Amino acid sequence: MSQTTILNHNLLTHKLTLLRDKNTDVKDFRNLLYEIATLIAYEVTKTLPVKDAEVETPLCKMTGAVLENQPVLVPILRAGLGMVEPFLNIIPAAKVGHIGLARNHDTHLPEEYYCKLPDDISQREVIVLDPMLATGGSGSAAIDFIKKRGAKNIRFACIIAAPEGVEVIKKDHPDVDIFVGVLDECLNENAYIVPGLGDAGDRLFGTL
Ligand code: PRP
Ligand code: URA
Repeated sequence: MSQTTILNHNLLTHKLTLLRDKNTDVKDFRNLLYEIATLIAYEVTKTLPVKDAEVETPLCKMTGAVLENQPVLVPILRAGLGMVEPFLNIIPAAKVGHIGLARNHDTHLPEEYYCKLPDDISQREVIVLDPMLATGGSGSAAIDFIKKRGAKNIRFACIIAAPEGVEVIKKDHPDVDIFVGVLDECLNENAYIVPGLGDAGDRLFGTL
């Protein structure tokens, strides 16, 4: 059974309040998203599997631990791209796959336009990155693609989630652990998260 971790971290809340502000410009939005994703990366990587490793310090030998495998980061294009660099900052040898999904503005359903994943994804921990979990359609579809390529150990990391989206991922993928910066109130009639921050991809890339 999967676990859902909601960070509820005061520094994250502070930065997220600035990120949400409609007057925050593209430069500050990028920087804040980077900083928030860094805080989430610490939590997501806390339980990555490790194996024993012998090491000799200047004083003695000891048994330490190293990661069993370097994980694969899979950002959901476009907005997920903003979370890649902060994760690579703390796991610089991670591999990176990409999944391109865009919500149809009328149906709100995700449509795939790109998918490139490492061949050995089945032997690695996979961390799916997307700042927004709204209806859960994009996240769930991305996890479907990754599972079809053989991945077995998948985590999903987002910054803001709607309760509806969390329930969809839990129902469709009960084996996937979910990490959420903050849980917002609901979705509006256009399937946007309320209070949310608007369209994350547009704000990150200045395409408003
Ligand atoms: C946004 C966001 C998620 C998705 C969440 O992407 O980055 O991928 O919507 O919504 P959902 O949970 O209802 O599927 P969008 O489709 O707007 O594409 P973009 O990142 O290219 O702007
Ligand atoms: N995608 C976004 O970028 N924002 C939302 O609120 C919902 C989906």
